[in-house]
Amino acid sequence: MLVLGIESTAHTIGVGIASDKPPFVLSNVYRRYVPSSGGIHPRESSRFIAENAYDVLVEALARANLSIKDIDAIAVALGPGLGPCLRIGATLARFLALRYGKPLVPVNHAVAHIEIGMLTSGFRDPLVIYVSGGNTAIIAFLEGKYRVFGETIDISLGNLIDTFAREAGLAPPYIVNGRHVVELCASRGERLLSLPYSVKGQDVSYSGLLTAALNMVRNGERLEDVCLSLIETAYSMIVEVAERGLAHTRKKEVLLTGGVSASPLLESKAKLMAESHEALFHNVPREYAGDNGAMISWTGLLAYKHGVTINPLDARIEQRWRVDEVDIPWRNQAGRSS
Ligand code: ATP
Ligand code: FE2
Repeated sequence: MLVLGIESTAHTIGVGIASDKPPFVLSNVYRRYVPSSGGIHPRESSRFIAENAYDVLVEALARANLSIKDIDAIAVALGPGLGPCLRIGATLARFLALRYGKPLVPVNHAVAHIEIGMLTSGFRDPLVIYVSGGNTAIIAFLEGKYRVFGETIDISLGNLIDTFAREAGLAPPYIVNGRHVVELCASRGERLLSLPYSVKGQDVSYSGLLTAALNMVRNGERLEDVCLSLIETAYSMIVEVAERGLAHTRKKEVLLTGGVSASPLLESKAKLMAESHEALFHNVPREYAGDNGAMISWTGLLAYKHGVTINPLDARIEQRWRVDEVDIPWRNQAGRSS
């Protein structure tokens, strides 16, 4: 079985092709929009997605040496994400499904970040640390759904470091040689400054931390020291919540996923925490950390095998589609996929 998946929820147009036989991912082609200034402008990003979608689709098929006729189903991320961007991917997917007579499979973007990590780790029932531009959540499978065991009550971890980088004059670009500019700057930090560490029960709050860090920069503190203090505080907060989630859920595996999982420092903190509880640890490989089409195609394949399809004429985008609203029929109680 072959499923083609389309990702266009925010800044990335990605097309992946998944197979139910090894190596499971046959191609994963993506292009990312990087705003020249400010944060993501949904209209600009959607234009970038529209301009690049066809080439990305053609290249994904070519890399797998397949034609669209070989594909069994089309999967698409219908949410959560930015409306104008989601609409491009949804339109392309509807077109392919109708034009070539293929079933259409709706995929939740957050579930896809988790499922690609399940594939690469071989884990059956992990505690998931999902950290990205739109999300910061501790998630575990329970009674048919991925449930949230802690999350940010305001901005996400990715948003925190991106906004800080922008406001402090470090970005764009945000990523240099695969490293986030705040982390690169932090590597020259020498002093830990006291910043608000805001963990409330199982939730974290990052907006006060952002304001305080920016104030420190304005008050003349060394930028490298503020960067170091910011990431140390922010990463420790989410790892603390993950640690409690692990104790509470008694899971034996920890999976780190989402764009910010590409951070070596966050990886080392999460790994140390997992190992101190004798849990196995896995970080999603870099190529699947940020948004990509492979994760949509793989999750689409799991869903399609369990009969999840949608009439193309009813396929609407869902900008606020929460991870815990999605039925996961391909996992049984132990989290094992079938
Ligand atoms: P969501 O999954 O919430 O919809 P998203 O679609 O915005 O998120 P992702 O590609 O999953 O996007 O994550 C993007 C985030 O990952 C950005 O905040 C970016 O700065 C961050 N990121 C990317 N590479 C790195 C890195 N090497 N270190 C730290 N953060 C990184
Ligand atoms: Fe994402």
